[in-house]
Amino acid sequence: MTIWYGGDYNPEQWGPEVWTEDMALMRRAGVNLMSVGIFSWASVEPRPGEFDFGWFDRVMDNFADNGIGASLATMTASPPPWLSHRHPEVLPRQEDGTILWPGSRQHYCPSSPVYRDYAARLVEQVAARYSGHPALTIWHIGNEFGCHVRQCFCDVSAEDFRRWLRARYGTIDELNRAWATSFWSQRYSDWAEIHPPRTAPTLLNPGQRLDFARFSDDALLECYRAEREIVRRFSDKPVTTNFIGLVHKPIDSFKWALEQDVVSLDSYPDPVSGRAHKEAALGYDLVRSARGGQPWLLMEQAPSAVNWREHNVPKPPGTMRLWSWQAVAQGADAVMFFQWRQSLGGAERFHSAMVPHGGTQTRVYEEIRALGQELTLVEGGGRIRADVAVLHDWDNWHAVEGDAHPARIDLFETLMAHYEPLFDANVTCDVVHPSADLSGYKLVVVPNLYLLHDGSALTRYVHNGGHLLVSYFSGIVDAHDRVHPGGYPAPLREVLGLRVDEFWPLSEPTMLSFNGTRDTASLWSEWLTLEGADVVATFDDGRPAVTRHAHGAGLAWYVATRPSPSLMRTLLDNACAEAGVQPVLTGLPEGVQAIRRGRHLFLLNHSGERVTVAVPPGGTPLIGTAKLDPRDVAVWSYPEGV
Ligand code: GLA
Repeated sequence: MTIWYGGDYNPEQWGPEVWTEDMALMRRAGVNLMSVGIFSWASVEPRPGEFDFGWFDRVMDNFADNGIGASLATMTASPPPWLSHRHPEVLPRQEDGTILWPGSRQHYCPSSPVYRDYAARLVEQVAARYSGHPALTIWHIGNEFGCHVRQCFCDVSAEDFRRWLRARYGTIDELNRAWATSFWSQRYSDWAEIHPPRTAPTLLNPGQRLDFARFSDDALLECYRAEREIVRRFSDKPVTTNFIGLVHKPIDSFKWALEQDVVSLDSYPDPVSGRAHKEAALGYDLVRSARGGQPWLLMEQAPSAVNWREHNVPKPPGTMRLWSWQAVAQGADAVMFFQWRQSLGGAERFHSAMVPHGGTQTRVYEEIRALGQELTLVEGGGRIRADVAVLHDWDNWHAVEGDAHPARIDLFETLMAHYEPLFDANVTCDVVHPSADLSGYKLVVVPNLYLLHDGSALTRYVHNGGHLLVSYFSGIVDAHDRVHPGGYPAPLREVLGLRVDEFWPLSEPTMLSFNGTRDTASLWSEWLTLEGADVVATFDDGRPAVTRHAHGAGLAWYVATRPSPSLMRTLLDNACAEAGVQPVLTGLPEGVQAIRRGRHLFLLNHSGERVTVAVPPGGTPLIGTAKLDPRDVAVWSYPEGV
């Protein structure tokens, strides 16, 4: 299949003369899919119940006439001013009661029946009108759900939260048990006494906070589902909604992925960060894994600079091309941007676009046009095979970053600390939920899985021959954020062959010894009692820092601290070697990412150096050569089975 290429199109910001030029420029740029209608609500329904789709018909017809598909939005992402003017109760509230007013976007309470009713009425109109349109290619529900309003604390949400809790726990006694409300006199006797975790004198109940995070995610998912069901009544085209992925805690991508026909992701790596492409890579591996390896869509990225960081540096020449190919290499079947034509007014007028303020005689449009041609040289659809799985769980993310822990943990940083050495070693990874089928992986890496209800699947995986690497503060609490009795980490003690007696966070980096070398560790340490595990690395006081335990036919490593990046790399290299995990290519120059996807081998030079890669024989070059300039890309095609 052809790779989709395009971006967000906001024609309501321009007159029809510009639309005609847009079509010519899109054709020149090789565009074949446009996301449209995302912020069109106020333009198609200028007054309640009064619909004006005439102009939008022309936009859709233009697409059809020019061979461009529409990723058609349900138009509900930014309610028109009349909605909150008539019904101020749809406006969301923060923890402290602050109202989030209109004048921006996404100013709706996800639980609001009023918002949902008006949204449903609009989606019916859109779906009925365009389901048979020849340009319609895919449905784009909402937009970046939860991007700005992650949780709403208003009274409507409070009532919805109570309903959600009743469905989850059945009885108030069960809820009291789950939330451990005998602590601090929090015992509830009636559902009506329960509130969202609003601003309070001090620390809030962890179970309540975790459930509110789950509820808030579900409230948004309900909005998504309601729109999807309407669309499906009229159309059998695939349905998606764009995630922000691993930088976005409110939306559980694993859960939402199952509700879509194809997953799409918006990705905005920061060009000034040296590891931006690695952070992006982690997110790409996750969205690909979220639907079992199915190709995904890069729904948005910036052609150059964004406008929402403190300091917005453009993408240097070649970077947009390199990062676009990176997404394709890691499983994307679409390369899309925010947005087509750079706005003259509004909050995003300094965000880059495919057609900049300066028009087509610009570096950015030229790079966009060139990439559009180049993408046609490669077929999408290919699958990726990974021998390593990194575990991630949204419930754990909420819980492990909760209040009042021995030390503050940033789970994204922990994930990166484990993922980056694997990326640098050119080991292909999937990023999966702990409940996924792990049996096909040679190595499973478990960063800070603090919330783990049940360790039996991981124990069984190792028993059957799998290799496991678990890092500190894992297996501590159950699904309600209550500590497992029986010594930490109770669900993993058997497989790891140890017990954690005490957490001992480090206020300064410390030294440890590993295989005759000395290195550093920081943030965290633990006092372990060994119950069968062997010591691999020790702190200077002689206590174990890293252990290894043979269990059944497999092996389980435990890392009781945060090792320096170099030591983490050594540990993971060792774990990979013992598990029989191979890099995609050996002897690659530093900074070159290699990925095999289907019959293609992608080489991506993220470094600032010119490099030569020893490309395996038997392939045909599709793009580039074995000599790659800084930020260069090469793609080779291999016959089946080579
Ligand atoms: C998000 C939104 C877009 C736009 C971009 C700007 O991804 O979905 O509408 O605001 O950010 O980077």
